[in-house]
Amino acid sequence: MTTAPATLRMLEPFQSPALQLKNRIVLAPMTRSRAAADGSAVPMMAEYYRQRATAGLLVAEATSISPEGIGYISIPGIYTQAQVESWRAVTEAVHAEGSRIFLQLLHGGRIGHRSLSGGIQPVAPSALRPEGITYTQAGPTEFETPRALTEADIARIVQDYAQAASNALAAGFDGVEIHGANGYLPNQFLSDVTNHRTDAYGGSAQNRSRFVLEVVLAVAETIGWGRTALRLSPHNYNNGASHTDPIGTYEYLIGQLSGQGLAYLHLMEGDARKVPAGLPLAMAAYFRPAYQGTIIASGGLTKATAEALLAASTADLVAFGAPFIANPDLPERFRLGAPLAEPDRHTFYTGGSKGYTDYPSLAQALV
Ligand SMILES: Cc1cc2nc3c(=O)[nH]c(=O)nc-3n(C[C@H](O)[C@H](O)[C@H](O)COP(=O)(O)O)c2cc1C
Repeated sequence: MTTAPATLRMLEPFQSPALQLKNRIVLAPMTRSRAAADGSAVPMMAEYYRQRATAGLLVAEATSISPEGIGYISIPGIYTQAQVESWRAVTEAVHAEGSRIFLQLLHGGRIGHRSLSGGIQPVAPSALRPEGITYTQAGPTEFETPRALTEADIARIVQDYAQAASNALAAGFDGVEIHGANGYLPNQFLSDVTNHRTDAYGGSAQNRSRFVLEVVLAVAETIGWGRTALRLSPHNYNNGASHTDPIGTYEYLIGQLSGQGLAYLHLMEGDARKVPAGLPLAMAAYFRPAYQGTIIASGGLTKATAEALLAASTADLVAFGAPFIANPDLPERFRLGAPLAEPDRHTFYTGGSKGYTDYPSLAQALV
């Protein structure tokens, strides 16, 4: 006797003032380093996202808002006309599958290198060099000491975000997700370890949140609140952006954004093995009561933990990253209770179609 697959909440449609989605599953933003040398999206990227338009909402990979904001080798941009035009094939392919797609907007700040940005010295809230290395055309290279931003620079970068958001809409995206996580420029402002400023952008939680709030406001005023989203990682201390008081900082920031009508707030759960002392593990659960609006939870989710978050209304949408790389039909595999394929980590950032568009769906694998 066969039993019908159990109904999953994550497969139900989602409706909010900003989003109408065919299911509650989100493709998490993932850098795959396959853009053209000029930062344009290549045709293979349209195929990659089309395959994963099984998710109701896709968040396309971190994409530079300006040459100065380039964080990594071979990532795409959204600041030239050629780049805008190149993304149309991606957005059209995803829309044809009945899904929505947001673009993640990146300014890497001090996580950049002048050899990636055409000679521009990386910038940051303070002139503090990150530890470690980055990868450039010349191979592994030490990070540089960034230039501390002036207030005029900050105003210019806020406008760069607004322009990039407007460009994203011109390219057919349904909205943008401001990358405020993982130690890039907005996170460098939030962290009191990377932000030593003594002006209006440094010091108190209110001052360290100012840059992020200015970016959100500028983007929302340009493309609308319902097309604007933000990703935060309160306890992902990537790229050295740790905090002495993370909860106080994020309570202030998230409180300011509550009820404003963002498309969503995307909260990354911490890695249980690396959660800093004194912090709650479950970010969506911690911030849910304080935030009025749509929450996406992500980070190490499984079918069971994602369902539990939705059932408890801790999250409205659930995002998956690595599992989607090897399982383009992830929602269907969840529905059937089918086994998941394992992604090959060696091809995450290597370029080419191997490990990118060649993972079969369950139906293809059975042929
Ligand atoms: C290959 C790869 C690239 C990633 N690139 C990004 C990125 O561009 N922007 C971002 O916010 N997170 C990025 N992440 C983090 C994912 O969005 C996600 O939060 C993380 O993988 C944890 O979720 P998971 O356990 O479902 O994979 C990346 C993760 C992977 C595996």
